[in-house]
Amino acid sequence: MNTIDFTTIDLSKEAPVTEPDRQYYFIAKAREYVQKQSEELGRALTFCVTTFGCQMNARDSEKLSGILEQIGYVEETDEEKADFVIYNTCTVRENANQRVYGRLGQLNRVKKQNPHMMIGLCGCMMQEPEVVEKLKKSYRFVDLIFGTHNIFKFAELITTRMESKRMVIDIWKDTDKIVEDLPSERKYSFKSGVNIMFGCNNFCSYCIVPYVRGRERSRNPEDIIREIENLVADGVVEVMLLGQNVNSYGKTLKEPMSFAQLLQEIEKIEGLKRIRFMTSHPKDLSDELIEVMRTSKKICKHLHLPIQSGSTRILEKMNRRYTKEHYLELVDKIRAAVPDISLTTDIIVGFPGETEEDFLETMDVVKKVRYDSAFTFIYSKRTGTPAAVMEDQIPEEVVKDRFDRLLKEVQSISSEVCSVYTDTIQEVLVETVNDHDPSLMTGRMSNNLLVHFPGDKELIGKIVPVKLKECKGFYYIGERVPATE
Ligand code: SAH
Ligand code: SF4
Ligand code: F3S
Repeated sequence: MNTIDFTTIDLSKEAPVTEPDRQYYFIAKAREYVQKQSEELGRALTFCVTTFGCQMNARDSEKLSGILEQIGYVEETDEEKADFVIYNTCTVRENANQRVYGRLGQLNRVKKQNPHMMIGLCGCMMQEPEVVEKLKKSYRFVDLIFGTHNIFKFAELITTRMESKRMVIDIWKDTDKIVEDLPSERKYSFKSGVNIMFGCNNFCSYCIVPYVRGRERSRNPEDIIREIENLVADGVVEVMLLGQNVNSYGKTLKEPMSFAQLLQEIEKIEGLKRIRFMTSHPKDLSDELIEVMRTSKKICKHLHLPIQSGSTRILEKMNRRYTKEHYLELVDKIRAAVPDISLTTDIIVGFPGETEEDFLETMDVVKKVRYDSAFTFIYSKRTGTPAAVMEDQIPEEVVKDRFDRLLKEVQSISSEVCSVYTDTIQEVLVETVNDHDPSLMTGRMSNNLLVHFPGDKELIGKIVPVKLKECKGFYYIGERVPATE
């Protein structure tokens, strides 16, 4: 991809119909418009991509940035100064939507001062028809709206907007298409997310993701391997394999392949040091996968295994397709195979019909599993999902009380669990200069814990041994020790 010279594309011809050539054509075309505008203004045009939501969105945003850079925009981190602002939105909980509307109001004021400003919206929220209706009615200053299925068309849509001067809206209901080989601009030089599948078929009854991300489809293993090989050649040592349910990877391929088999192929890639993945659905976590995790030299010692609720009765209403007992058995099996593995989870409090007894079942799982950390969420009603119309929605005060009790338990366990590594030496991938103290570097251990230690920014991207001196609850203070090898 990096070798494409967009200046050689002949724009006097019609746009090609096949992808990704069609998008390369529109990148070249949009470049001309940007160049012209930038000459008129006597300065470079700038962009700012703001990401809401999960790692999938973060990865999509790298693709948006890659395309914008190829078009000729330069990154600007202050959104209010940028000529092109795009929000990559999330709609998994209602408060994510509210934040977008709030910030859009603010952007409108900025746009009045900078008439060159273009505002784009994409991502999961745009797949909801009510959202697009509201934007069309009350947010006319937005220039470009597209969804999750046609993000690959970004260059084409920008071109359409530049030529039409009107609000451009393009939302697809679903797709079976996966377009490979588009530009992407990575946030980190040494690690990267890699999509292995898109969409979700699970339809957990509270969740909007299957409606906004469409049906599950897996990328071809050859495309995934080729992407990772290219990333490694470009300096990447750690990949995070991304999917809503990575454990069902490969089921929709012409030649089916399991996630465990894919991991074994990725393990063989020379130069790649660490492999992470998310998210694992407990119902599809196979013995084969546990075995691969046990023997792998590269798979990190961390498993994110969302439980959502500890009550089998609620799990059934959630359509999660496992029981409390099955989940606890899985945890035992994983810990027996990989004893020092770090376990994290997601929990929803206040699902319709959740009684105090159900909630205590969740507390019981938390106490039994002793998670390294847990993301806790208050149930948010998503229109169109089965749970939204279930009887017995739980009053806010009750949910808030349960949420606070859960959070307290989770935090107290997690600080106990995290401190067990004090005085050990761990390999850490050095990621950044510490935000608060520039003499410290921040690195990540295999188990996903962070450690801050005195060091130089030359270390960024390297894996070094660090002695953990002091646990500060969720992270460590450490010091470098000489490599043992
Ligand atoms: N595919 C992943 C989850 C993606 S969404 C999985 O199945 O584990 C991330 C998390 O958001 C979920 O694990 C769930 O805990 C939470 N979530 C999803 N829908 C929600 C809702 N309606 N209200 C509150 N939390 C929700
Ligand atoms: Fe949502 Fe369930 Fe799919 Fe996860 S597996 S994205 S929670 S429907
Ligand atoms: Fe949000 Fe979409 Fe991810 S709804 S959590 S950004 S898949």
